[in-house]
Amino acid sequence: MTYFDKNALKLSHEYIKQHVTKGDVCVDATMGRGRDTLLLCSIAKEVFAFDIQSEALSSTKKLLEENQISNAKLILDSHHNLKNYVQSAKCVVFNFGFLPGGDHSIFSHSDTSIKAIRAALDIIADDGFVSICSYYGGDTGFEERDALLAFLQTLDAKKYTVMLQSFHNRPNCPPLFIVIEKNH
Ligand SMILES: C[S@@+](CC[C@H](N)C(=O)[O-])C[C@H]1O[C@@H](n2cnc3c(N)ncnc32)[C@H](O)[C@@H]1O
Repeated sequence: MTYFDKNALKLSHEYIKQHVTKGDVCVDATMGRGRDTLLLCSIAKEVFAFDIQSEALSSTKKLLEENQISNAKLILDSHHNLKNYVQSAKCVVFNFGFLPGGDHSIFSHSDTSIKAIRAALDIIADDGFVSICSYYGGDTGFEERDALLAFLQTLDAKKYTVMLQSFHNRPNCPPLFIVIEKNH
């Protein structure tokens, strides 16, 4: 395994491919243009995907149709409400930030992001995980990143392991990749 040819998204996809199996139920908590939903659907039994923008749902629906994928439920709601739709899952995948090619004034916020991570930890299986790509920088993302990292540090080390990977010497605020595993 080398890192020079990787980025946070590639690390998250590699982690997902290693840990998700075909009987699993998974959650994509930030659907966007559907790239994570597509990957999860291609491996797992069922995927619940959330976004607050209808543009994300229509974009993802198109991507899934083009790939003849039909095992996703696309939900127009904030990820902090995910327990209203799904009670258990192998993983919950977050890709925080704004919709690529969309309205940059609509982005994830630390208060709902942290509520959503708490909800995700409530529903993941004992061998489950939460994957997070944190895009920070620009006008907004520093506050969310700092709040997120401070929150993750408070998670009980007896119950959870939090792994943070950063491309530390890359310019322009390279996204972080974070995995939360349950200790089991
Ligand atoms: C970086 S994009 C996700 C990229 C996506 N995974 C993909 O493959 O294209 C972040 C997405 O999170 C969504 N988002 C922001 N706040 C949200 C919330 N509270 N609940 C659900 N989605 C949210 C945004 O609308 C945006 O589409």
